[in-house]
Amino acid sequence: MTSTQSRYHDVYASWKSDPVRFWEEAAREIDWIKPADKVFDAEAGAYGRWFVGAECNTCHNALDRHVAGRGDQAAIIYDSPVTGTKRTLTYAELRDEVATLAALLQDLGVEKGDRVILYMPMIPEAAVGMLACARIGAVHSVVFGGFAPKELATRIEDAQPKLILSASCGIEGARVIPYKPLLDEAITLSTAKPEACLIFQRPQLAASLVEGRDRDWSEAVAGVRAAGRQAECVPVAATDPLYVLYTSGTTGKPKGVVRDNGGHMVALKWTMRHFFGVEPGEVFWAASDVGWVVGHSYIVYAPLFHGATAILYEGKPIGTPDAGAYWRVIAEHGVVTMFTAPTAFRAIRKEDPNATLLKGHDLSRFRALFLAGERADPDTIKWAESVLNVPVIDHWWQTETGWPVAGNPIGLGALPVKYGSPTVPMPGYVLDVLDENGKPVPPDTMGSIVIKLPLPPGCLPTLWNADQRFREAYLSVFPGYYTTSDAGYLDQDGYVWVMGRTDDIINVAGHRLSTGGMEEVLASHPAVAECAVIGVKDALKGEVPCGFVVLKSGVNRPPAEVETELVGLVREKIGPVAAFKLAITVGRLPKTRSGKILRGTMKKIADGDSWTMPATIDDPMILSEIGEALRGRGLAG
Ligand code: COA
Ligand code: AMP
Repeated sequence: MTSTQSRYHDVYASWKSDPVRFWEEAAREIDWIKPADKVFDAEAGAYGRWFVGAECNTCHNALDRHVAGRGDQAAIIYDSPVTGTKRTLTYAELRDEVATLAALLQDLGVEKGDRVILYMPMIPEAAVGMLACARIGAVHSVVFGGFAPKELATRIEDAQPKLILSASCGIEGARVIPYKPLLDEAITLSTAKPEACLIFQRPQLAASLVEGRDRDWSEAVAGVRAAGRQAECVPVAATDPLYVLYTSGTTGKPKGVVRDNGGHMVALKWTMRHFFGVEPGEVFWAASDVGWVVGHSYIVYAPLFHGATAILYEGKPIGTPDAGAYWRVIAEHGVVTMFTAPTAFRAIRKEDPNATLLKGHDLSRFRALFLAGERADPDTIKWAESVLNVPVIDHWWQTETGWPVAGNPIGLGALPVKYGSPTVPMPGYVLDVLDENGKPVPPDTMGSIVIKLPLPPGCLPTLWNADQRFREAYLSVFPGYYTTSDAGYLDQDGYVWVMGRTDDIINVAGHRLSTGGMEEVLASHPAVAECAVIGVKDALKGEVPCGFVVLKSGVNRPPAEVETELVGLVREKIGPVAAFKLAITVGRLPKTRSGKILRGTMKKIADGDSWTMPATIDDPMILSEIGEALRGRGLAG
């Protein structure tokens, strides 16, 4: 479809002329227990609140409301090449499982507003756990399995969960990763302790249970089932929290992004048809993990709100068993639309550049590929287009927004593609680009990308127990705007170009990580005097972290030995997901005369980009030393 046929401009204009009416109409797609007194209350919350006074239940909208017409339709298809398992849960079966687990959670003392942490691999029980919390008004907080005990402990400390749901192990390719020892260590490290843990024992590995605290998931559920008990949906306020999802901030302390119930449902439901172009009953696949926002929004919630079928895939794009894994899943389950991070396609392309493994797979039902989570490089998009022969859509959003800020809305009719740009803002978002003084810059000029307040439904109303941090981090930087911490520009046609972060967040294989957090870990090593971590370009993962350390004077150990320890320390304290494999010892770090480390210039040198000597540099010689050290490791091109 060409731009003249796209309804995007009309729909965006109609939203802009009356945002409240737009979202009021979108809200008709949701079953409310009590409608809102005010669709938008500008006086409430940090920038206003959506659907104030409304009562609803997220689990009802995901499951119960569909059981009448779609009871026998697949709600979730679990496909796990790493265990050789496939399992389909219909809407009726999933509702039944969720209502039973929800009754068990109530038995364990979980009430509306209580937090429940999930530290789970990609198995159906993870989704069942999230939905069971939603059913009884408990607030779930899923922690990605690739995080180390210390990171999990920080989240336990902050969320103070009454209960933790976990499993005996995760499976990473061919490796079985015991989760239970990580959970036990995290609980030991945290001063806040859960009252109970429910552990799903997987056949690949049995976990030992702590007496008095841990319960066997399957046994406990069987008990509730035998008693014939199920929990009904508990009414909650639209503005009550549905979940807290921790994401990397600029320090080692993650930010607990809060998602409410009402706005979340309205926004996600809207995106399924109008953005992704998916109809109820169709199969939608987000190849991510429930530990990330993509997993929350597009593995679990949005497809279910929409009456679609979601795929829950436990595997990798390559190696499980090969680079044809995605094609098999698409063909076998009749996927119409898939969503993943560009890094997955870079991995497939590297293994199978001519996509020979596509042969024999019937992809005739497949209509579009969506990429997000990191910048989609034009090369990867073009390769995917050429092998799949369907539109490949780059779209841009964040944990904080919960749904796409900008993209090419296939559901409204696609706009012309500009490679490297995630296209245009969605209804709900007015984007501006500001200079450091907060003044809008002309088109095609780089600056900070900001969203005009108020944020639309579904975006975070605040941070968990940290209203002040929320205001300071997002709302006070440029008054009247939400700051995305992304840098880029708007072009003459209103397309947005997202080029990088303005803070110390890096994107490693689509995973959001804080270099500040890694620096805290490196600095804790007794031999390290000072350090700097930057993200350097990587052909597969987009970016990987690289740490520079200056050893304390008097430390006479071989630098290589310390570097190995530092790599191990980041893995131990943050987790394998950080992919921290490169620590480089240098004599000094380049700084400005006021003592600020020149990370930006170091990054340009490491990436082999052109760079200029900063006027404020203290000692220009240090940059050539850095370049030399990088070349010694095969970097700096
Ligand atoms: N539990 C435990 N460990 C985990 C984990 C989990 N849930 N997820 C990842 N890890 C580990 C990996 O095993 C790996 O450990 P290693 O250093 O011992 O090999 C490390 O964390 C890094 O994982 P990952 O970033 O997945 O790298 P990889 O080299 O294993 O795979 C890709 C690279 C590109 C195949 C992979 O990143 C991928 O499939 N990406 C898809 C995109 C995606 O899921 N994005 C999420 C946001 S949309
Ligand atoms: P996360 O909160 O993990 O979803 O990460 C959000 C960040 O990832 C954004 O702020 C961007 O820096 C980056 N990002 C996500 N999608 C895109 C995209 N399509 N293009 C460029 N950057 C992106």
